[in-house]
Amino acid sequence: MNEAPRTSPRKENAPLKELDDWDDFVSTRYRPGKSEEQFRNYRTDANPGVTEFYRQNHAHQTLDFVLKKKAEYCGLRRGKKNIWEMAEYLNTLVDESDPDTDVSQIEHLLQTSEAIRKDGHPRWFILTGFLHDLGKVLCLYGEPQWAVVGDTFPVGCAYSDEVVFPEFFSANPDANVPEYQTECGIYEHRCGFDKVHLSFGHDEYMYQVAQNYLLEEGLYMLRYHSFYAAHRHHAYGHLMNEHDEEMFAWVRKFNPYDLYSKGRERPDVKAILPFYHDLVSEFFPDQIDW
Ligand SMILES: [Fe+2]
Ligand SMILES: [Fe+2]
Repeated sequence: MNEAPRTSPRKENAPLKELDDWDDFVSTRYRPGKSEEQFRNYRTDANPGVTEFYRQNHAHQTLDFVLKKKAEYCGLRRGKKNIWEMAEYLNTLVDESDPDTDVSQIEHLLQTSEAIRKDGHPRWFILTGFLHDLGKVLCLYGEPQWAVVGDTFPVGCAYSDEVVFPEFFSANPDANVPEYQTECGIYEHRCGFDKVHLSFGHDEYMYQVAQNYLLEEGLYMLRYHSFYAAHRHHAYGHLMNEHDEEMFAWVRKFNPYDLYSKGRERPDVKAILPFYHDLVSEFFPDQIDW
C-alpha cells in the first residue's frame, strides 16, 4: 500500500516531547489516593508542553474539523494491512528523548492487555486492551498531536467544565457559534453518543477499524477510553441514552488498565507473543482495512 513517509510534525504542532507525555499526565491526574482538592489542581501536574498541547487541542477541534477528519479516515481507504504490520508501524513512533527507559508502543499495548489477562477477563477484553492505542498511527500519517491524543469531548454543543482546561475553549471558533453553544447544541436530548461527534483522535479511528470484528463492549472501550469527562466525571449525561449508560460500565472497567499500565513490569514480549498471535487471529482476518 501507499504509505505516507514518516514526517516529523512541525514543531509548533508538537508541543509534547513525545506522545506519551499526554498519557503520563492523565495517569498523574488520576493517581490513586489523590484528594478532591489535589485532583482539581491538575494544572500543576501539567508541564508547559502538556498545557500548550491542550491549548492547541481545544482551539482547533471544531465541528468542521472533526467532520473533515472523519470523512478522511473513517472510510478506511488507506489500504489493507494486518494488525501486526500496524503494530510494527506504530512502534516506529519512538521516544527520541529517552529510548532506554521508555517502553515501546507495543509494550504499552501488551502491558495493558497482560494486566487484563492476569485479572482473568475474557479473551475479547484482553484483545481490546492490546488494540486500544493502535489508532495512534494517525501521528505517523502526519496528523498533529492535538488530532491524535488528548481527552475527547463532544463538538457542536456546549463544553462541559469537566473537560480539562475548559478555559482554552474560548479560542475555539465554535465558541462563537450560538447554535453550538446550547446544552444540546446540534443534538437531541438523550440521542445517544453514537450520534454525537467527539473531538477527533485515535479512539474514533481504532473504533472504526475494529467495528466489524469486536464485541460491542470492546468497541465502547476503544471509542470512549479518552472521554474522561463522561466516564470519570459523568458529564454529558444529557446526550447519553440508556444503552450508553450500560456500556459505559465497560469503559470504566477498562480505564484503570490503561491508566496504570506503565507502572507494571515490562512484558516478556517474546514469551507472550504466541498467545497474542492466536488471539488476534481468533477475531480478525489476516488483512483488514485501515
Ligand atoms: Fe489511548
Ligand atoms: Fe493507552
